[in-house]
Amino acid sequence: MSGDLANSVNKLDIKENSVTNHNNDGGDDDQVDPWNVVSQADTGVDYEKLIKRFGSSKIDEELLARFEKVTGKPVHHLLRRGFFFSHRDMHSILTRYENGKPFYLYTGRGPSSSSMHLGHLIPFTLCKWLQDVFSCPLVIQLTDDEKTLWKDLKVEQAYQMALENAKDIIACGFDINKTFIFSDFTYIGQRSEFYRNMIRIQKCVTFNQVKGIFGFDDSSVIGKIAFPAVQATPALSTSFPDIFGDKKVPCLIPCAIDQDPYFRMTRDVCPRIGFDKPALLHSKFFPALQGAKTKMSSSEANSTIFMNDTPKQLKNKINKHAFSGGQATVEEHRKLGGNCDLDISYQYLRFFLEDDEKLEQIKKDYTSGALLTGELKKILIETLTPVLTQHQQNRSKITDDTLKTFMTPRKLC
Ligand code: TYM
Ligand code: TRP
Repeated sequence: MSGDLANSVNKLDIKENSVTNHNNDGGDDDQVDPWNVVSQADTGVDYEKLIKRFGSSKIDEELLARFEKVTGKPVHHLLRRGFFFSHRDMHSILTRYENGKPFYLYTGRGPSSSSMHLGHLIPFTLCKWLQDVFSCPLVIQLTDDEKTLWKDLKVEQAYQMALENAKDIIACGFDINKTFIFSDFTYIGQRSEFYRNMIRIQKCVTFNQVKGIFGFDDSSVIGKIAFPAVQATPALSTSFPDIFGDKKVPCLIPCAIDQDPYFRMTRDVCPRIGFDKPALLHSKFFPALQGAKTKMSSSEANSTIFMNDTPKQLKNKINKHAFSGGQATVEEHRKLGGNCDLDISYQYLRFFLEDDEKLEQIKKDYTSGALLTGELKKILIETLTPVLTQHQQNRSKITDDTLKTFMTPRKLC
C-alpha cells in the first residue's frame, strides 16, 4: 500500500463526533449511548443540548412543512409532536424524492428479549409510515451477534430471539413486497457482498476511534470492538445485491438517538469508500414507567410494558409503577393540580393518543386538578389495551411461511 493511502486509511477524523458522547467528562451532561440513558433532570433528557453535543440538526417547522409539500400528506403525529426531533441530511432525501431518485430505509433491533416493548414501536411505527408514504424498500437488521457479545446469551438463544422479534416487527404491518428482515448470524454467511463491505469499513476505523466513540477498553472482547462495522454495513446498498444489485443507493435511518454513535462513525467512513453518507431521523426515548430519567428498556421488567403483556399485566403495571405527577391526596390534587411534564401516564398518552383535542383537554383537566391520577391512568389503560391486543392478534396470524419470506434474501418491488 502506498504511504498516502495508508495515511488516509489510518486517519479518521470523526468531525461530527469531535465531542464524543461516551466518557464525556462534563459532569452535568445527560448520559446517552447505545447502552445507557440517564438524564440529570426528572423531566428527562435535554434534547436541545443533545443536538448541539452530537452535531445533528433540529427537525423544525420548515422541514416539516417541506415534508408535507413534497409528499402531499400530513406528517405523522410522531413528527408533528416532536418525538422525532433531530435529523441529519433529511433535506437531501426529500430532494431525491422530488426528483424521482431512489433511496431506501434501514433500521434495526438488538434481540435481547423475546418480546419487544412499547418503546420499540416508536422507530418501527415511523418506518412503517415512511415506507407507505415514500413507497421504498426497507431493510431491518436483527443484531443477534451484538446481543450474544454484550449479554449473557448463547448464539442459539440470541438467534431464536431474533426470530421472535421478527414476528413483532412484521406485526407492525410492513409490506412483505418491500421489506427484508435479516438476522446477522444467517445473512452474513449468505451474501459475501455484506462481508466484503464490513471489511471495507473495518479497514477505515482504528481501535482508538471506537474507544472514543463507544468507550471500549483493553479488556473489551474483540467481538465488541469489531461490531460497530456490522451495524454500519447495511447503510451500504451493495450489501444487499438481491435488492440493489451493484447500484449505490443512499439510505435513511430512523432510530432513537441512542444509536447515533454507530452512525456518526458510518457517516465518517462512507465517503472514503465511495458511498453517500446515510441520512438519519432521531427519536426521543419512550420513558420507563418509573419516570423520564431513563428509557424503557428490555432489561428492566418492572419499568417496561412488553408487547406480549396481558391486559391484566398492563393494568397492574400502570397502576402500580407509572410515575405520577399528581399530588399526595385528593384534596391537594384538586387544589394544586398535577404536573403533566413529570406524569408518565400523560407522557405515554402523548405517544399513543392521536386526537390532539382530546389530549389537550386531558392536559388542562389534569393540570387544574379536575382530573385525578387514577382517572388519568384509566384513560391510559383504555388507550393502550387495544394497541397491545391488536398487536398480539396481528402477531398470532403470522405463519412460518410469512416469516420465512420476510427473511429470505430476494428482489423487492
Ligand atoms: P434496540 O433493540 O436496543 O432498539 C431498537 C430500536 O428501538 C429504539 N429504542 C427506543 N426508542 C424509543 N424509546 C425507547 N425506550 C427505546 N428503546 C429502544 C432504538 O434506538 C432502536 O432504534 N443495535 C440496535 C439494532 C440495530 C439498529 C440498526 C437500530 C441494528 N441496526 C439500525 C436502528 C437502526 C439495537 O440493539 O436496538
Ligand atoms: N446497537 C443497537 C442496540 O443495542 C441495535 C441496532 C443495530 C440498531 N442496528 C441498529 C439500533 C440500527 C438502531 C439503528 O441498541
